[in-house]
Amino acid sequence: MNVFVTRLLPAEGLTILQAAGCNVRQHEEKRELSKQELIDICQHQDVLLSTGPIKLDADFFKNCSHLKGVALMSVGYDNVDMAAATHYGIPVSNTPDVLSRATADTAFLLILAVSRNAFFMSRSIAKGDWVFYDPTANLGIELYGKTIGIFGMGRIGAELAAKCKAVYQMNVIYHNRKPNVHLESELGARYVSFNELLKQSDVLSVHANLSTETEGLFNHAVFKKMKPSAIFINTARGGIHNEADLTEALKNNVIWGAGLDVTQPEPMQSNNALLSMPRVCVLPHIGSATVETRGKMAVMAAENAIAALQNRRMPQVLNP
Ligand code: DGY
Repeated sequence: MNVFVTRLLPAEGLTILQAAGCNVRQHEEKRELSKQELIDICQHQDVLLSTGPIKLDADFFKNCSHLKGVALMSVGYDNVDMAAATHYGIPVSNTPDVLSRATADTAFLLILAVSRNAFFMSRSIAKGDWVFYDPTANLGIELYGKTIGIFGMGRIGAELAAKCKAVYQMNVIYHNRKPNVHLESELGARYVSFNELLKQSDVLSVHANLSTETEGLFNHAVFKKMKPSAIFINTARGGIHNEADLTEALKNNVIWGAGLDVTQPEPMQSNNALLSMPRVCVLPHIGSATVETRGKMAVMAAENAIAALQNRRMPQVLNP
């Protein structure tokens, strides 16, 4: 039972795989594998456990149609051609739920950091810019009673909405493909059209999947519809916002600020203009990066991998 892991797997997952008798090979080098390297390695594997955003396209599945399964250690699966996987009869699983809290925490951290311009100001101390106490400078904006707009009210969006409501008594509005009546009663959330979400949100947080519908959705025209005091947060996928348009919107004070845990491309280059702008905070895709959450994701991915190896249905299988 050969399993290839595209990075180092947290110990909790590795232990489970080894206890089940798997022969585990991990990619330990600090570089991404090319598609061809991955295809070559997978010729000798039964299951692929993919820990990151490596692209698994139709060509990959065609060349690796012998695989018994692909276990993703992520909730997002926009990097996987699911139709091709299904066509070649390869089950693919993900790791939902276990990362919702940690990812919502990251969004919450970004909201606070941007509302008080914390990261920019911290960097300004290092540049020697803290010379006196000025009661009219360095002012942020408060969150109490403001409106949080959730774009994509799934598990992570709902976690964030609950935090914003509990801590800052924020009003919750959201936009989804369809209203979620259950969450509306639980969170006192209100379903609004996309245009209303843009118009009414003081903080707009993206929690949708990257798809043909959402790719590049947050562009110049969309930022222009938001409040000049609004904060834009994206912890979902960088491809959902247009980075050049966001940079322009921030430069021209079309919106107040932005907090990003995801960028397009990743990694972001160190000379990116967003990194030195006030009221902007960029993190290196650490949404689920806590010891506890990554351990749970590794366990879930390992259990899915073992199920595939044993010809059982993967508990978190995504294919229809
Ligand atoms: C996820 O789980 O989708 C995270 O963004 C890591 O890729």
